[in-house]
Amino acid sequence: MKRSRVNEIMLEGDAFIRSFGYVMPPFAYWTPDEFRARKADAAGILDGKLGWDITDFGAGRFDALGLFLFTVRNGNPADLASGRGMLYAEKIMIARKDQVTPMHRHGVKAEDIINRGGGTLTLELFAADPDGSIDRRAEVVVPSDGVIRALPAGGKLRLEPGESVTLLPGVWHSFWGEGADVLVGEVSTVNDDLTDNVFADPVGRFAEIEEDEDPVHLLVSDYERWLAG
Ligand SMILES: [Fe+2]
Repeated sequence: MKRSRVNEIMLEGDAFIRSFGYVMPPFAYWTPDEFRARKADAAGILDGKLGWDITDFGAGRFDALGLFLFTVRNGNPADLASGRGMLYAEKIMIARKDQVTPMHRHGVKAEDIINRGGGTLTLELFAADPDGSIDRRAEVVVPSDGVIRALPAGGKLRLEPGESVTLLPGVWHSFWGEGADVLVGEVSTVNDDLTDNVFADPVGRFAEIEEDEDPVHLLVSDYERWLAG
């Protein structure tokens, strides 16, 4: 993905998110220079990998296969062993109309996926085999706002604004906006995107960036390279 496109998507995404009355935290608006200057105080941002995460899953077709994410808060996965501490995370996301997030599951993370406004959020769901792979026959059962929903394998769950679904570890899911772009909330177990995403097809988790202009804001996947030293 070109950096200029990432910059554009940041501006468009910020305006879309604000149009629903949700505002991202102050560090969303730091420039790369500000980030460098505040690095010593920003360990919570760097360690938690908080911030902008705009991905085309490495395929270079953002409009068809992609997702806008901003990690607002995230705990420390090491705390899971003791079962105490900041064991939760929150993301705000945008699933554009007909823009697919590819089929995946998580090994550790349980996540509530919430339609916070806009179009319909459609999820395609499968249960997992005992070995973790997609079960193409078994029914898939998920809680949705306190009500159990049972769907056939590959069934579509349509969430209207205000509705949500709880995806426990193992549940395979793909999703996209239907009718219009959707503001999507995620409330989850503490999150490690480097290790906890299993995709059905070989895709990347982060975009490869072609630097054709300066970044307006850094992506989480930029931190290591841009803030080194
Ligand atoms: Fe997921």
